[in-house]
Amino acid sequence: MKNELIIVLDFGGQYNQLIARRIRETGVYCEIHPYNISLDKIKELSPKGIIFTGGPNSVYKEEAVTCDKEIFNMNIPILGICYGAQLIAHLLEGKVEAASTSEYGKTVVTLDNFSKLFKNINKETICWMSHTDYIKNVPKEFDITATTPVCPVAAFENSSKKIYAVQFHPEVMHTDEGEKMLDNFAKEICNCQGDWKMADFAKAQIEQIRQKVGDGKVLLALSGGVDSSVAAIILSKAIGKGLTCVFVDHGLLRKNEGDEVEAVFSDKGNLDLNFIRVDASERFYNKLKNITDPEQKRKIIGEEFIRVFEEEAKKIGKIDFLVQGTIYPDIIESGHNKSAVIKSHHNVGGLPDYVDFKEIIEPLRLLFKDEVRKVGLALGLDEKLLYRQPFPGPGLGIRIIGEVTKEKIQIVQDADAIYREEIKNAGLEGQIGQYFAALTNMRSVGVMGDARTYDYAIVLRAVETSDFMTATSVKIPWDVLEKVTNRIVNEVKGVNRVLYDLTGKPPATIEFE
Ligand code: XMP
Repeated sequence: MKNELIIVLDFGGQYNQLIARRIRETGVYCEIHPYNISLDKIKELSPKGIIFTGGPNSVYKEEAVTCDKEIFNMNIPILGICYGAQLIAHLLEGKVEAASTSEYGKTVVTLDNFSKLFKNINKETICWMSHTDYIKNVPKEFDITATTPVCPVAAFENSSKKIYAVQFHPEVMHTDEGEKMLDNFAKEICNCQGDWKMADFAKAQIEQIRQKVGDGKVLLALSGGVDSSVAAIILSKAIGKGLTCVFVDHGLLRKNEGDEVEAVFSDKGNLDLNFIRVDASERFYNKLKNITDPEQKRKIIGEEFIRVFEEEAKKIGKIDFLVQGTIYPDIIESGHNKSAVIKSHHNVGGLPDYVDFKEIIEPLRLLFKDEVRKVGLALGLDEKLLYRQPFPGPGLGIRIIGEVTKEKIQIVQDADAIYREEIKNAGLEGQIGQYFAALTNMRSVGVMGDARTYDYAIVLRAVETSDFMTATSVKIPWDVLEKVTNRIVNEVKGVNRVLYDLTGKPPATIEFE
């Protein structure tokens, strides 16, 4: 049976995926399509509702993006958000103009509770506004259903035609009751039942991939992180042994991590995958000898990773498809190419065009991290694996300040393992965004058993963050820090001092390099 579907038409707004995600949270499958999708394609998709997103344009300007007016006669409920609302007003002959002052941020909106969109929502509610143009007149046969002190039309509708529009952004968390509004749109207006689950997403992806790949050969660079692991399971359920997972162990992983990944994905586990672990650590250590510059380290690790991967691909033979575990935030971040390069980030394996393949498959590209976890759970992946700490592609290479040596890798692995163990013992494991130990390149004098020491300082970091773009340091209880410190100086050879980093991002970054 086909799932209920709501489609989002993308007019270039910043929060488009968030809209889709909020609708999926109501239990209705939602996907994004370009604003100029044909009406025939819409008929073929047969959605229960359509949402127009925000966008950076002014509807009355020539370069404005628009859609076919016939969309309003398709008898499919429509919700316009921000630019989408202005577009509805404009296309149906209302009036949109530039306002004398922009309205931006949290705003008290007064609503008409008779609107189905605002069912069970407070009459006065905080909504997130972000607009310069405003709707001066609504089209004929439309009613104004919300206002703010400076915005005469914060929402309007024609309920018999099932066309609704809001100037504010219900999808962002700053709109207190936004989720409820989107739920009302899906259930009360589009009459959806909300019977879709992440498991259905996985099932649909598996089926699509099976049809696309047939008996072709597929290669996946498996890091053991959440995204590539979930992608591997989807692919393996779709095409079984047509998939080969290559796990490049660069020798810069956390303590025991390589073995843990192998235990899950090799024939020691129960997943029945073609799994190749390549122990390439010596190659990486050689390349990193005498290198101290963080960016140079990243580039060397990235380049070497690709070379190893390439060699493995050649051994396997002609590959038809390559799988990447790209998720939606990766796409947003790689789109930020006008901003300054702080670190040449994100994924060691920005995969090359050297392998002879037809296409890249990215089964998770529409999802956010927590949605990927839900897919993983639905497919039976171990929770331990799904809720792992984010770990950068270059691994411990960028958690050792300065030159990377085997001795330093051992130190940071041992200290980090103790830190993670004690965080777990204190019951804080699921509550901290990211935490880890790093090794400074500072040595200092200490005293142990009446003797002088001259050893390294370990630094502990723990941050709270929702998007990893900004972060604040976490107030870990003092006794937990004390215990970690004692254990590290006692158990890890070569360390006589432990520091805790209180800096936020900005001005620091989460990793030290
Ligand atoms: P920063 O240090 O930039 O880190 O504040 C933000 C998030 O990104 C991770 N990170 C990386 N991930 N390759 C990756 O795949 C990298 O080179 C890299 N550098 C940082 C970091 O762990 C944090 O989650």
